[in-house]
Formats: sequence, structure tokens, C-alpha cells
Amino acid sequence: MHTIHQYQEFFITYLENQTINKKPENLYAPIDYILRLGGKRMRPVLTLMTSEVFNVDYKNALPAAMAVEVFHNFSLVHDDIMDDAPLRRGSPTVHEKWNINTGILSGDAMLILAYQYFEQYEPIVFRDLAKLFSKTALEVCEGQQWDVDFETRKDVTIPEYLKMIEYKTAVLVAAAMKMGAIIAKASEENANLIYDFGLYLGLAFQLQDDYLDAFGDPETFGKQVGGDIIENKKTYLYLKALEFSNDQQAEQLQSLFAVQYDDNDKKIDEVKNIFIQTGASSATQEAIKEYTFRAFDTLERMDVDQDKKELLRTFGENLMGRNV
Ligand code: IPE
Ligand code: IPE
Ligand code: MG
Ligand code: MG
Ligand code: MG
Repeated sequence: MHTIHQYQEFFITYLENQTINKKPENLYAPIDYILRLGGKRMRPVLTLMTSEVFNVDYKNALPAAMAVEVFHNFSLVHDDIMDDAPLRRGSPTVHEKWNINTGILSGDAMLILAYQYFEQYEPIVFRDLAKLFSKTALEVCEGQQWDVDFETRKDVTIPEYLKMIEYKTAVLVAAAMKMGAIIAKASEENANLIYDFGLYLGLAFQLQDDYLDAFGDPETFGKQVGGDIIENKKTYLYLKALEFSNDQQAEQLQSLFAVQYDDNDKKIDEVKNIFIQTGASSATQEAIKEYTFRAFDTLERMDVDQDKKELLRTFGENLMGRNV
């Protein structure tokens, strides 16, 4: 096994050696731009790590890791259009730098490029990877549609929210890990347990993404802080705030989320105050811990060496402490 940092380096070196920028320029330059903009590279690192957890050299998992990262970046390009987001990884989003049509088509091409990386595997592995990937990609679309539908709904429940983030975010983290298991030909039981580990980690990850969207440091976060509040996203913060608020707070929160504002800074400030006062922000931090611990529980049931479990645990702990 290697360190998390080393897996990141292995992946970045592989990515840097890919030829992406072909003609027509306006199709491929945005793909090259978003892929080289950085990011945490969490999903590909998990794919590489998982293959080694199950005793197969990470090099075998590089194309699948690339497929997952290209798909993830495709989903970000389209997500930023849907969320009207100006910033990604501290730089202008693709549709801001080019335009919406470019974002749509470059995104589509990325989805296809992602699939092409699986062609490097032998038929049985190819089939299993492609099958998992198709199922996952469709679930991500379902999650994204729910996310958008919830913007204009007033009756979203916590279970609905949890299902939505499971689909839009957690299933891809889970699949990234299961792909490592498929490549390593791990037992079905282990492959399913590592999927569950990734799923819980992914839920914790999206809860924290929601938390940072409101309370992150604009200097380091790399995205527009308060973007979810501007877009009336029904996050865990929002739903818990409604649950915990008195009548006056509930009315204020609902009316802040009911109309468009010219002064978004004021809206963001007021909403964040309610998130804090009602205890929704601490409840969110509790939930992040809870899902991370659930992930750790699934590790206990897995049949692999202790030092490998430790590395996966460290990964989860680092994720909990992140600020980007
Ligand atoms: C952002 O994912 C989208 C979510 C699912 C929250 P990341 O936070 O992993 O984004 P990068 O790749 O590190 O920029
Ligand atoms: C994004 O969720 C999930 C996907 C891209 C599929 P968010 O909309 O919260 O992600 P960010 O905050 O823009 O990265
Ligand atoms: Mg977004
Ligand atoms: Mg979104
Ligand atoms: Mg977000």
C-alpha cells in the first residue's frame, strides 16, 4: 500500500499524460481546462486505493480511476450550469468562461470519454465496470433532478433529502471503490462492503459540502460561499433549521427561500444566523460524524488486513476535517 498523498500523485501523473486537447478547440479546451483545474481527486484515489486493499497493483486501476474522475468533472460542468455557479476550484466555471452551449456539449463528450477508459479492460472486467457505471450514472441524474425539484418545494423531508444526496453524490463515491474491487476480483461480499463504506462516506461528504457551502472560508473554499442559499437548496442545514425553529424563525426562513432577492448578501447572512441559532449547524456536524462512523463500522465486517483498514479509516478522518 502507499500513502493517500502518493495515490494522488500517481493519479495526477497519469492524468497529465493524457492527450485531451484536440480539435475542435471549443469542444476539447473546456474539458482540458476543468480536468486540469485541480480538485481533491478523491474518487480516483479511492479507486486506486481499493484495488491495492484487495492486493492488485494500483496501476491496473488507473484507467478506471480516470473514468470516474472524468465522469465526476462532467457532472460538475453540468451541475454548475444547473446551479448557476460562477466559481469552481477557485476559477470561473466552464459556462462562465465559455458559454452554456459549450458547457453542455463538452460535458456530453466527457461522459463518452469516461466510458472509453473502460475499453482498456478485458471483456469480463469491462462488462462489470460498465454495468456498475451505467447504473451509477443514471442514479446521479436522478439525484440531480431531485435536487432541482426540491428548490421549489416547501415540503421536502429529511428522508427525501438523504435519498437525494445518496443518488447525486454517494453512489459515485461507492462505485469508485467498488470498481477497485472489481479490477482486483475481490469476493462479492468484500466488494459490497467496500461499496457500503463508500456510500456512507459519500453521505458524510455531501453533508459537509452543504455545511461548507454556507460556512466555508471564501478564501479557500473555491466555490461561491452561500450559493446553495441563493438557489434555495433544501439542504440538511435548511431542513434541520425548519425542524428546530420557533414560529417566527420558521416564517422568516420560509419567506427568505420563497422570493428572489437583489441583495443576496443580506439573505445569506440572515439564513446563516438562523442555521446557527436553531442549532441546525451543529446538528449537521453531528450527522457528518455519524455517517463517517457508520462507514467505519462496515470496515469492521470486511475481511482484509488491519493496516489496510487503517488507511481507509485515515482517509475518512481526513475527509471529516476538510475545509475545501
Ligand atoms: C464536488 O465534489 C461535488 C460534490 C459531490 C459535492 P468535490 O468536492 O470532490 O470536488 P473536487 O473534485 O474536489 O473539486
Ligand atoms: C453536486 O452537488 C453533485 C453533482 C455534481 C452530481 P452540489 O451542487 O452541492 O456540488 P457543488 O457544491 O456545486 O460542488
Ligand atoms: Mg453545485
Ligand atoms: Mg447541484
Ligand atoms: Mg454543494
